[in-house]
Amino acid sequence: MTEAFKKDVEAGLDAKPKTLPSKYFYDKKGDALFVEIMNLPEYYLTPCEMDIFQNKTQELINELGLKPESYFELIELGAGDGTKTKELLRSLDSQNYSFDYFPIDISSNALELLEKDLSQELPNVAVQTKQGDYFTVLASLKVSKKPKIILFLGSNIGNMTDDLAAEFIYNLGANLQAGDRLLLGVDLIKSKEIVLPAYNDPNGITAKFNHNLLNRINNELEGNFNLNDFEHRPEYDEKEGIAKSFIVSTSNQTVEIKSIGKSYHFIKGEKIHTEISRKYNDELIEKIIENTDFIIQSKILDNKGYFADYILAKKNQI
Ligand code: AVJ
Repeated sequence: MTEAFKKDVEAGLDAKPKTLPSKYFYDKKGDALFVEIMNLPEYYLTPCEMDIFQNKTQELINELGLKPESYFELIELGAGDGTKTKELLRSLDSQNYSFDYFPIDISSNALELLEKDLSQELPNVAVQTKQGDYFTVLASLKVSKKPKIILFLGSNIGNMTDDLAAEFIYNLGANLQAGDRLLLGVDLIKSKEIVLPAYNDPNGITAKFNHNLLNRINNELEGNFNLNDFEHRPEYDEKEGIAKSFIVSTSNQTVEIKSIGKSYHFIKGEKIHTEISRKYNDELIEKIIENTDFIIQSKILDNKGYFADYILAKKNQI
């Protein structure tokens, strides 16, 4: 892990303009900060998708093509604390649907907490937690040939470029059979007045989240970033539909990273690009899935129309 982190940090800071990969936000502290972000009034994504899971549960179930009498596997990529999914599980359970729930996560700690919580709240739901890399786990689940539903919620796909998202969805399809479905939760393109505050809360929680990357470099790679000399600055261009997070150097300064054995110079105002959070519309989703085996089955919106859960179906092979 540290080796990969070191290599990625070195490559990112050698690049022009400088970048750092967003996947390294999520250590223990980063996980906790993201939970705080999800509870911010400005971060509309979580309550909007929760609205869909709470108030459009039956529509979700119908569009996923689920029938109480036919068994299916419900597989969630990056389950987290499962708050939204629990709404769906509760409804399926109360209507006696026959299924197993497979939450997949990199964090075994998150899975243990989820398993414990579900065993108390929904003791009749069969849960099989799977720790590991999504595609390794999916490859192992593929052998069952049982009908499958994959959940990938929270606009987590938005951290990928469109090319990577297309490749990711293509690879999901390779682990599924005709008729299987993917429930893809995505944030929709909308005005700057709504999107930007979600990435720039006045309490500075998102700033801390972004700065946590520098903290990790300091702690794990013997860096000497002075966090007071770097500022969190998000940008959002409505035409492009991508929120971007940057860390901006507020002075001319040099930072040493001992374990890499290099020093990096920053001029005042120089930016490190740390994250993209893509926003979507039908056209973009169509384009992303155009060379995959999926078609759009349907789309379910929250009551404000800010967020969408797309239901994609794997096509019949010709
Ligand atoms: C977890 C990727 C969906 O991009 O909105 C929140 C991460 N970054 N605030 C997002 C995040 C800054 C979040 N995702």
